[in-house]
Amino acid sequence: MSKIHTALQKITAAGEKKAADSRTAASVKSAIRSEKEHRQSTPLQYKQQIEVNVALLAENGITVSGDHARELRDEMRRIKWPVLANAFGDQSKEIERSNVVMVASATSGEGKTFTAVNLAMSIAAEKDFDVLLVDGDIAKSHASELFGLTEYAGVTDYLSGEVPHIMDVIVGTDVPGLSLLPAGRADEHASELIASNRMSGLVTDLSELVPNTVVLFDSSPILQTNESQVLSRNVGQVLLVVAASKTPQPAVKEAVSLLGPDVIVNAIFNGMKSSFGKKYRLGGYYGYHYQH
Ligand SMILES: Nc1ncnc2c1ncn2[C@@H]1O[C@H](COP(=O)(O)OP(=O)(O)O)[C@@H](O)[C@H]1O
Ligand SMILES: [Mg+2]
Repeated sequence: MSKIHTALQKITAAGEKKAADSRTAASVKSAIRSEKEHRQSTPLQYKQQIEVNVALLAENGITVSGDHARELRDEMRRIKWPVLANAFGDQSKEIERSNVVMVASATSGEGKTFTAVNLAMSIAAEKDFDVLLVDGDIAKSHASELFGLTEYAGVTDYLSGEVPHIMDVIVGTDVPGLSLLPAGRADEHASELIASNRMSGLVTDLSELVPNTVVLFDSSPILQTNESQVLSRNVGQVLLVVAASKTPQPAVKEAVSLLGPDVIVNAIFNGMKSSFGKKYRLGGYYGYHYQH
C-alpha cells in the first residue's frame, strides 16, 4: 500500500499545489447558500419509486455493522467533503460539470460499487445535498442489482432512444435525497452508446437537473473497458479507487493516463485485505489534481 501511495504522491507532486482544498462542511455549505437562495429548487417528480432493501445491501456486504460501520461513516465523510467542495464550493466555477462525479478504478473488484453506494448514502444523509446514483457499469450492473433494478429501463434505453425523457428512467427511493438511474438493458453496443453525443448530452442534462445534487456514476474498470475512458471526458470529477494491496502501480498510472485531460482526479486507497476476508477499510483519502 505504501508503495502505491508513495508512487502516486510522486506522480502527483506537480499538481499538488492545485489540490482541491478540503474545506469543512460549514464553509462548503456557506458557499452554496447564496446560490441556493437564488435558485428555486423544484423537487423531481419521479415516475417510479422504490423502497431500498437494506437487508439486500447488508447481504451483499455494502452496509456493515458494529465498529466498522462507524469507521466507514467517518471515512465516507472524509471522501465526501472534498467532493462536495469541488462540486459546489468556490472552486466549482472552474470545473465543468463539477457536480458529476465518476467512481472509477483500473481493474475490477477494487471497491467501486462499494464506494459509490456508501458515498451516495452519505451524501443523501446531508440535509443540503442530494445525490443521483447512476449505474454506469452497463456490463455488470451491480449497483442496479443491489437496489433490485436489473429489470428496469435505464441508461442504455435512454441512450438508444427508446426512452425519450430521462425522468422516465430515474427512480425515486424512500431514502430522502437518494435517487437512482439503473444501467438498463445490457446492450452489445454499450460502449458506442456511452461514447455517443447523446451520452455527453445526458451528463449535461443530469448535471443541471436539480441544484445541489451530486450525480454519482458507478463505472466499469478503466483498463478493461472503453466506456469509462470516454465517460471520464464528460464528468467533472473522478474518484479513483485503488485497492492498495492489489493494484500494481503501473496499472494505476496507466489508468490515470487514460482519463480525460481536464478532469479532477482524487484517489482513494481502499485497504481491503480480501485474502483474509475480514478487515476492510477505505484507506486515507488523498486528493490531488492530476495534470497530464
Ligand atoms: N472498504 C470495503 N469494506 C468492505 N467491503 C469492501 C470494501 N471494498 C470492497 N468491498 C467488497 O469487495 C468486493 C468487491 O468490491 P466492488 O465494489 O464490487 O468492486 P468493483 O465495483 O470495483 O468491481 C465486494 O464484495 C465489496 O462489497
Ligand atoms: Mg462494480
